[in-house]
Amino acid sequence: MSTTFPDGFLWGGATAANQLEGGYDAGGKGLSIQDVMPRGILAPPVEEPTADNLKLVGIDHYHRYAEDIALFAEMGFKVYRFSIAWSRIFPNGDEETPNEEGLAFYDALLDELEKHGIEPLVTISHYETPLHLAKTYDGWVDRRMIGFYERYARTLFERYGNRVKYWLTFNEINSVLHAPLMSGGIWTSKEQLSKADLYQAIHHELVASASATKIAREINPELRIGCMILAMPIYPLTPDPADVLKVMDADHGNLAFSDVHVRGAYPGYFLRTLRDQGIELDITDADRETLTNTVDFVSFSYYMSICEAASGGEVGQGNIMGGIKNPKLPASEWGWQIDPVGLRIVLNQFWDRWGKPLFIVENGLGAKDELVEVDGVPTVQDDYRIAYLNDHLVQVREAIADGVDVMGYTWWGPIDVVSASTAQLSKRYGFIYVDRNDDGSGTLNRYRKKSFGWYRDTIASNGANLA
Ligand code: BG6
Repeated sequence: MSTTFPDGFLWGGATAANQLEGGYDAGGKGLSIQDVMPRGILAPPVEEPTADNLKLVGIDHYHRYAEDIALFAEMGFKVYRFSIAWSRIFPNGDEETPNEEGLAFYDALLDELEKHGIEPLVTISHYETPLHLAKTYDGWVDRRMIGFYERYARTLFERYGNRVKYWLTFNEINSVLHAPLMSGGIWTSKEQLSKADLYQAIHHELVASASATKIAREINPELRIGCMILAMPIYPLTPDPADVLKVMDADHGNLAFSDVHVRGAYPGYFLRTLRDQGIELDITDADRETLTNTVDFVSFSYYMSICEAASGGEVGQGNIMGGIKNPKLPASEWGWQIDPVGLRIVLNQFWDRWGKPLFIVENGLGAKDELVEVDGVPTVQDDYRIAYLNDHLVQVREAIADGVDVMGYTWWGPIDVVSASTAQLSKRYGFIYVDRNDDGSGTLNRYRKKSFGWYRDTIASNGANLA
């Protein structure tokens, strides 16, 4: 070991409103797309919220946030990443004035974080577009979404800008390519959606993100705005140059987003993709100017890597976007291939490419946990989660030794939440077990797993306990 984690490294955890809050119609909240997606991305949305949708109650964080934040504090969190439910603030999304009760909820949550000295990191939009915007405007396909988002972001910066320094504009913005409804609020089904509309939606999101960055700086120059992408290293299945070329193309598909966020203009390869498909985007001069408002840092989620090949290979399961299975790697119970070294690789790749501070804002293992009793106290002996965490953090430490500027690390789902892709509770990521099952039963009680103490020790020793 040549180096260690820097002082002030931001250790913590990350969640998203729609996956834990519940209270889907409480406090004046409007419906979001998630309220009609009972099966995540596994099935099309339904007309009305239905009782089988676990997200309607989530883990009832809406009412238990103080208890949950106290548990995060017990682990020593320095930072907590959470998202604001857009439809709590603007129930339909296109109103002129915000819902005060929704704003007050996040004031109270921020009070709790402040009480425990935990730095907030806020995602402005995490897979929870107001349903009205999806149905009426077809989400980000419509240019008017930029204005609605600007109003929403301005409202947040004005209200919380004196107590929240770090902001992310869109969760996993590149996932819109694979999950247009969940990621882009696009109501037209994936099968019906034209490539031209999809790329136009991407353009609108990128402009909205840059515009929010500009607004944030005007309101408070101290604010730090980051983009957020789903990172997934892609390896060639063989050394055949045709496979390597496939990797390059697939990489470009993801990197294009942050190339725009960081460099303020579309890269040549992206323009070529559009040309080759005969797509002419509506990009105004004002849009081009707005895009020059670039981010302060790059954040990303990291769960797994995939392979690409010009032909052959077995397709595996993946986080929203899958790929070809890597014969060298093990997989989680949900088929996501576990690759700690891939985290060091993306950290280096992103640092070399953009030279911006990096923030790992999601990393985690979804697994089936068994609740047992130790000395009369319910717990989970999740050594597999500890091993995953340890092995990934070792690679973060290596990347830091490589010279990469890493701001922090927030584990995905420090408390069990409803899964985004499969809408299950049995796919658990937490250090804290929540007694709620896939059929909706359970007491909602919280229990510390074995990993709870391990992560607490990691934070307390600033990573010195890594094996
Ligand atoms: C990321 C999302 O894709 O992965 C989270 O930003 C999500 O919202 C996480 O929960 C894990 O995925 P899943 O589908 O297992 O919940």
